[in-house]
Amino acid sequence: MENNKKSSFSGRLGYVMAVAGSAVGLGNIWRFPYLAAKYGGGTFLVTYVILALTVGFALLLSETALGRKTRKNPIQAYHQLGAKKLRFGGWLNSIIPMLIVPYYCVVGGWVCKYLYAYLTGAAHKLTQDNYFTQFISDPISPAFWLVVFALLTFIVVIKGVEKGIEKVSKVLMPLLVVMAAFIAVYGLTTPGAIEGLKYYLIPDFSRFSIMTVIAAMGQMFYSLSIGMGILFTYGSYMKKDVDMEKAITQVEIMDTLIAFLAGLMIIPAVFAFSGKGSLNAGASLMFITMPKVFDSLALGHIIGVVFFLLVLFAALTSAISLTECAVATFMEQFHFSRKKAALTSLIGILALGIPTSLGYGLLSWIQPLGMTILDFFDFITNSCMMPISALCTVLLVIKVTGFKTIHDEVASTSAFKREKAYIFSMRYICIPTLIIILLSYILSTFGFITL
Ligand code: PHE
Repeated sequence: MENNKKSSFSGRLGYVMAVAGSAVGLGNIWRFPYLAAKYGGGTFLVTYVILALTVGFALLLSETALGRKTRKNPIQAYHQLGAKKLRFGGWLNSIIPMLIVPYYCVVGGWVCKYLYAYLTGAAHKLTQDNYFTQFISDPISPAFWLVVFALLTFIVVIKGVEKGIEKVSKVLMPLLVVMAAFIAVYGLTTPGAIEGLKYYLIPDFSRFSIMTVIAAMGQMFYSLSIGMGILFTYGSYMKKDVDMEKAITQVEIMDTLIAFLAGLMIIPAVFAFSGKGSLNAGASLMFITMPKVFDSLALGHIIGVVFFLLVLFAALTSAISLTECAVATFMEQFHFSRKKAALTSLIGILALGIPTSLGYGLLSWIQPLGMTILDFFDFITNSCMMPISALCTVLLVIKVTGFKTIHDEVASTSAFKREKAYIFSMRYICIPTLIIILLSYILSTFGFITL
């Protein structure tokens, strides 16, 4: 009876757009281009694609298949599949999104603020020295914009899977591709951009090292939203007649394509503007360098609007997936209605997000492990919990359910052409990869290695 009531995506397209919406986020836009540029351009791209097609595919498929098979949130899915010693893996998968979404919304709020500035003609102000630092250390403004972004997310999630998440993703994701292509083409026409394009695309083996592989691995997990309960949850909303293998392949293609486009959009333009030295990752690229680049372009304020709108769409669909995961957990664990679950999530987001948003100003004295609050949450979720929860899922398949369970779920609707690659990756590649990620993230956070 419960299964009949369970909401679902209307079909493959809805599923693909929603999962791609989750996967395509800030990671694609502010991290991928930087890493690709730093680690040898073409060589990084090839390494990334190989990893996404092997380890990435194996984990995407495992989580989705187990989600669809059980039609449950990760906690109950693990339970139903008979995981005893591994049960904490289900909990980890459910808790991670609850810890990520508050700080993700903080950055989403920054994006809203910048978009607002572009729309109200204040673009030039954004290029002033220290504008960004002043904004994030303001005692009120970052919290205000966090609330704006969190409410946008909430409005979609409360409407439900098909009428909210699917509908919004089906509109925003194609728009996002068109906007990214537009900015990339425009950027490439600026003088000097071709040098940047070469830097991005032509493989430079002298910049290839073991760090290239490690950086590509970490980026891939984050970018595909692996080990964060999302694929279980969205898998549980996938109808039993959808071709799962095809859907997952399309998600991989879309996520990689947009990351690649983001590189085309950012690297040549930044390169032409101020050379490779200003290609930093993270907030400074998006909120300090890009506004300066746009300011130097003819029609730059229009490009700025399109760019921040695009980033907003990318961040919003990712935040939606994180919130939905929390909502599913509340609905299934505590039998909350969707409304109550969504409200509970919103309160949680605000309770954790407001202090996080003020972590550069009023609350900058709070420095867990010597980091800002935002970096701290990012560290514990992405660097510590995610590799462990993904490891639990690999072990769940290998030790508890067996490959046959996955085979039956996938083969019920797909040819399962990549089954051999799947089993090989799960058996031999996933575990060492995840252990390397866990160690390298922890070591790099404490300054023992540089990623
Ligand atoms: N995959 C998203 C990105 O690339 C980030 C994300 C992580 C989204 C976890 C949801 C959950 O930015």
